[in-house]
Amino acid sequence: MRFIYMELKEKQLLRRQAYINGEWTNASNQKTYPVKNPFDRSVLTEVPDMAASDARKAVEAAHNAFAVWKKKPARERAELLRKWFLLMTEHEQDLAQILTLEQGKPLDEALGEIRYGASYIQWFAGEAMRNYGDVIQGSGPDKRILVIKQPVGVVGIITPWNFPNAMISRKLGAALAAGCTVVIKPAEATPLSALAMVWLAELAGFPPGVVNVITTSLPGPVGKELTTNELVRKLSFTGSTQVGKQLMEQCAASLKKVSLELGGNAPFIVFEDADLDAAVKGVIVSKFRNAGQTCVCANRVFVQDTVYDLFTDKLRKAVRNLKVGNGLEADVAIGPLINDKALEKVERLVGDAVKEGAGLLEGGKRHALGGCFYEPTILTRVRHTMEICHQEIFGPVAPILAFSSESEVITMANDTPYGLAAYFYSRDYARIWRISEALEFGMVGINTGMISTPVAPFGGIKESGFGREGSKYGMDDYLEIKYLNIGGVEA
Ligand code: SIN
Repeated sequence: MRFIYMELKEKQLLRRQAYINGEWTNASNQKTYPVKNPFDRSVLTEVPDMAASDARKAVEAAHNAFAVWKKKPARERAELLRKWFLLMTEHEQDLAQILTLEQGKPLDEALGEIRYGASYIQWFAGEAMRNYGDVIQGSGPDKRILVIKQPVGVVGIITPWNFPNAMISRKLGAALAAGCTVVIKPAEATPLSALAMVWLAELAGFPPGVVNVITTSLPGPVGKELTTNELVRKLSFTGSTQVGKQLMEQCAASLKKVSLELGGNAPFIVFEDADLDAAVKGVIVSKFRNAGQTCVCANRVFVQDTVYDLFTDKLRKAVRNLKVGNGLEADVAIGPLINDKALEKVERLVGDAVKEGAGLLEGGKRHALGGCFYEPTILTRVRHTMEICHQEIFGPVAPILAFSSESEVITMANDTPYGLAAYFYSRDYARIWRISEALEFGMVGINTGMISTPVAPFGGIKESGFGREGSKYGMDDYLEIKYLNIGGVEA
């Protein structure tokens, strides 16, 4: 077993226990499970393999802490969030290293995620103080009406492995700012980033029970506890549409508030009037970030037929420059996929497309490095009937389709049950408005491949879920509206 703490400046960031009610704790059954490095599948360390009963304890702790936390003046909550943000920034290099080791993404990208994650905490430190209500004209001369917003209560947070830091911080920042307490279940593959962040939250001074983390190799029972325990009043989940639907069903019995950030099938459209070099850069960012393992990744690249050859040629040159390897090595742009199952899915989708007549312009097979590496791949002559256009690829594969008119490309782009992100490149302002309005997606990148920022409302429509994270809207999901009708007031 290779322990990673030798490399860390602050060795305490590598936690091997979960966190309940302000205590670092083992599973009640004393079981543990290994956390592996997707680069070489070596074991990094072991963490508690907790059961539903441990999650119940965490929920009870969060419920007790809520009674006190919700009454804290907003400014005190904001100050704690601010301290936590500063600690995350101070330890960003160590946090990035832990993230790369357990998730595989290149170190620079991991550092970018730590900064992105911390920026949500910074943002919500400010938003905590802006939980405003309303005054409404009374319904009669003796009536006065007020609206106040109060924290929902205990929040269950279930997060994916592709962003082990930022997917937690953007939920946690909003929940804590609103006055909620939380129980987090990080993805089984990537619990170390969550534990490291929460150790910093403890250092910042969050009271016991306000933030709790349960680690487990078996998400089902712990997820069930968080979705069925009546003390939990809200669930926030990022992950697949299939699991999101299951969790929502489980939440129905106790009618919990639910926020779901689910799968995507983003179109990336390049019109003939686009700056093609900028569009190539956009595809590289949007498609190949995190080896193609993001919900907002370009999944289908549509290029107008008049510029198709020119564009694919430029893209090919850019993709050839992407270095594949161990995320800890300098200049590596593409790390391994998370596991064998992910690799097999990518392999199957590419194989199917090629069998159906797609051309392999670049890549197209497992990488010579072995393990979970897949070559950065460009597929040409792709048709929209192919399976690859209807599945989330979650790998470094860009399928390129040709189109001739706006109406044709809009029909294909919207032909998916998903509605998370979409991108297009054009320099024609009238077209920019037409296409922005016609795309059925929650987020649209126009002449940019990067739409992620804490100042904007992140979230989808259709089967990509609901709820918004970040921005001035982000706290709403963690607040209940209550209205006060005051009668007997002399006019
Ligand atoms: C995701 O993959 O769900 C999140 C990506 C992002 O926040 O940029």
